[in-house]
Amino acid sequence: MSDLRFDNQTVVITGAGGGLGKAYATFFAARGANVVVNDLGGSYVGDGKSVRAADVVVNEIRAVGGKAVANYDSVENGDAIIDTALKAFGRVDVLINNAGILRDVSFKNMKDLDWDLIDKVHIYGAYKCTRAAWPYFREQKYGRIINTTSVAGLFGSFGQTNYSAAKLSQVGFTETLAKEGAKYNIIANAVAPIAATRMTATVMPPDLLESLKPEWVVPLVAVLVHQSNTAETGSVFEAGGGHIAKLRWERAKGALLKTDASLTPGAILTKWNDVNDFSQPDYPNRAADFMALLEEAQRLPGASVVPDLDFTGKVALIT
Ligand code: NAI
Repeated sequence: MSDLRFDNQTVVITGAGGGLGKAYATFFAARGANVVVNDLGGSYVGDGKSVRAADVVVNEIRAVGGKAVANYDSVENGDAIIDTALKAFGRVDVLINNAGILRDVSFKNMKDLDWDLIDKVHIYGAYKCTRAAWPYFREQKYGRIINTTSVAGLFGSFGQTNYSAAKLSQVGFTETLAKEGAKYNIIANAVAPIAATRMTATVMPPDLLESLKPEWVVPLVAVLVHQSNTAETGSVFEAGGGHIAKLRWERAKGALLKTDASLTPGAILTKWNDVNDFSQPDYPNRAADFMALLEEAQRLPGASVVPDLDFTGKVALIT
């Protein structure tokens, strides 16, 4: 048996000055990769900046014989980050969009600044870094991308509307990158990590944090970005505390209604059980076949117009 190696490959990791990013950086350097350690070095809410975070990680990697360079740009400046990889190592093979901040606040108290900063780092930042690497990935017909999503985005999380929206964006971003990249051997996946970092230090109890080391997320990412992965793309995984699981969409049986005047709110409510029927689900990676469904709907026997009902089945009074 041999380890998965990354010799002669350049791995760019954003936000690698601490937490999960640092764990990725030290792992890939130890497995032979040239690593770009990007970190702006600010606080977890996005204030300030410092070269220290990235420098410490680069020094640690070099001290044990690894190859790493620092980059201190914000991910909003993705071109400069990819440029650092090209100048130092002449190529880029793997991009891990990991940098992140939090601006937790109830929706009632959300300020535009809280919304915009989260958007800038998580959505715009991942876009800019990926956009900068993309032409090189296409040209060399090889690229591996990890985008970082979150259970907050997948399932919602109190006080995190900004973060949830930004994190779920990474799923759609990944799914489309996977589709556009397939022809060029560009593989993109999204990971929702759970790990003890400064980001979670205040929201999880200390004994739980002890068992959620960032290192337990890293091996999944290594599997996904390794050159031997040529098929797993456009997928979403949860990883943390030794639990690794794929997530996917599930579509209910659904209701089919004739598209005429009988398609009323009340008619939908009479078929509400079908709308919610997951007894024979399918697991789509594309929209339903609307043309076929439309044809099928047209073949349905004429339905009588149903009065508008409410969820209790009573006729809804529109006042
Ligand atoms: P962390 O705060 O330890 O690390 C994030 C790093 O990103 C920091 O070193 C920070 O300086 C850097 N950073 C922030 N803004 C930046 C910018 N504009 N440009 C460059 N670097 C920047 O947090 P953690 O937990 O390691 O988070 C890593 C990623 O994982 C984030 O995207 C986060 O949203 C995500 N995540 C983490 C979870 C967890 O349980 N720790 C849960 C779900 C998602």
